[in-house]
Amino acid sequence: MKKIAISFSFLLFSAAAVTAADDPIAVRQALMQANAASAGAASAMLKGEMDYNPVVAKAAIATFHSTAEAMGDFFPEGSNVGETRAAPAIWENPDAFRETLAKFRTDAAAAVEASGRDGPADLEAFRLAVMPVLSNCSACHENFRLEDD
Ligand code: HEC
Repeated sequence: MKKIAISFSFLLFSAAAVTAADDPIAVRQALMQANAASAGAASAMLKGEMDYNPVVAKAAIATFHSTAEAMGDFFPEGSNVGETRAAPAIWENPDAFRETLAKFRTDAAAAVEASGRDGPADLEAFRLAVMPVLSNCSACHENFRLEDD
């Protein structure tokens, strides 16, 4: 049984490794699309265009958290070329990129903490939890994402 469990987890690990190695650009862009969808839902509620819903709020925060935890693995050396807007600064100044990413992770983890089991109780609680997380989007893009052509 133990042997089966080990080989199964090895299989999962190698599948993930192959996917990332195959196309890290596609994976990180997909993670960013999930960020964008969640930011869209969050800002619709913050602007009052959509009724506040703690379940949606919690889902948005959970997405930011998982993206923040995952994205660091998808910027390997050499993935600066191709269909990507990732800026050369990511590889030229890796410490600064790591710090920027670490702040996103910290803020997202704090929002998860604040949102509790059932999501933030009301719109104001959601605003307090999510605004710091959202500030990371443009902060990172400014330095580490190339402008549109
Ligand atoms: C730590 C840095 C960082 C943070 C934080 C970050 N992004 Fe990004 N984002 C990037 C980089 C780098 C790219 C370019 C990726 C590529 O083209 O390979 C990108 C690309 C994108 C894209 C374009 C994806 C595509 O399909 O080409 C969207 C949309 C996006 N980000 C939204 C967001 C939102 C919304 C947030 C905040 C919730 C966010 N990002 C937070 C670094 C970041």
